[in-house]
Amino acid sequence: MEQLSQLGTHSLGRALIRLEEVDSTNDYLKEHAAELPHGAVCMARSQTDGRGRLGKRWEDRPGLTLPFSVLLRDLPRNLLPVLPLVTGLAVCRGLEKLCGGDFRLKWSNDVLLESKKVCGILCENRSSRFLDSTVVGIGVNVAHTAADFAELNLVYATSLHLVTGKLHESAAVCASILNQMEPLLEICVQTGFASIRDAYKERCVNIGREVLVTGGGARRRGMCLDVGEDGSLICQTGEEVYPVFSGEASVRGIMGYF
Ligand code: BTN
Repeated sequence: MEQLSQLGTHSLGRALIRLEEVDSTNDYLKEHAAELPHGAVCMARSQTDGRGRLGKRWEDRPGLTLPFSVLLRDLPRNLLPVLPLVTGLAVCRGLEKLCGGDFRLKWSNDVLLESKKVCGILCENRSSRFLDSTVVGIGVNVAHTAADFAELNLVYATSLHLVTGKLHESAAVCASILNQMEPLLEICVQTGFASIRDAYKERCVNIGREVLVTGGGARRRGMCLDVGEDGSLICQTGEEVYPVFSGEASVRGIMGYF
């Protein structure tokens, strides 16, 4: 089986499915979960039906974005809500190690570079009596130019190439992220999200800023105070302090919310 040469993990990425084109790398792993081991990775050159969070589409162009997904088995249930945050932190660390740069997180898991989105993450759980698996999908903008984003009508997106001036190999990007993801997951399995919460908070652009929380038909403005041990975003509106567990939390001054 093909291996990613820079991979330093025990299980993540050790089983690798590399495709030219697929509908969605997340869907591929969900469909084949029964015959694949923990840590299996599906990566593709392009997706015909890439999916984003909150029911949105994820637009790919062959060779510009790196879409890949990781199959995780039997994660403790309490880790599932924080998995997007753990993955976001792993992506920041992996990309930073590979390319340099100051990678930040917009809760829960948009990875930003120079205040624009460079990577999106979609975690999906698939649970039955016999099979407990989670698929983590990661889409990294690797090679886009400004003209590519203009054509795709993505105003608040950037790519590794645009910021660093370098073209990074998909295999190297994927391996670097997996190398960071495996130890972070191990820490969280053993001691919970609390042990990496400070590292997440250091990169989180929401904290201390005004946010607009939307989702489920609701819209609420407030100040973001913190990220809780359960991964929720702690916000305040007037006197009320409350946790936000899902939805979008736009940050005033970033990515078109002014
Ligand atoms: C988002 O920011 O809305 C999440 C985008 C997630 C995109 C990735 S690309 C690989 C994997 N396969 C998919 O269909 N989606 C995720």
